[in-house]
Amino acid sequence: MSLVKWSNDLLVGNEAIDEDHRNLFNLLERLNADLGSGQINQETQSIVDALREYAESHFAREEACMRKMGYEHYPVHKAEHDRFLSEVCALQSRVARGARTAQLDIDQFLAGWLREHVMVRDMALAAAIRGERLAVA
Ligand SMILES: [Fe+2]
Repeated sequence: MSLVKWSNDLLVGNEAIDEDHRNLFNLLERLNADLGSGQINQETQSIVDALREYAESHFAREEACMRKMGYEHYPVHKAEHDRFLSEVCALQSRVARGARTAQLDIDQFLAGWLREHVMVRDMALAAAIRGERLAVA
């Protein structure tokens, strides 16, 4: 199984969050395929840009929700988001410079990280949201 591919074990049971995650994995999969072709071009750049933008807005939604409920695991959860974003930013500048060594990062680091984050942190967050009966705006 490829780490970049969305799979149902990633479902956390909150429709808004699951939809965001599906989109994030789609971007990672496209980026991986694009980098795998060995050609870094304008399209690669625009996928990384979209990934950064999408991840930022998705994380902001989760974080707003956590603050609203006074979520006790907020600092750890937020620190993981920040780490992911800083890796995406680093990738963004490598791609901008035309680096060709980015593929391993997508598969192993970004997708591996996101998968684990979703299954551990977001799964717990979704359960807490259900407990509070909150809607993710
Ligand atoms: Fe999260």
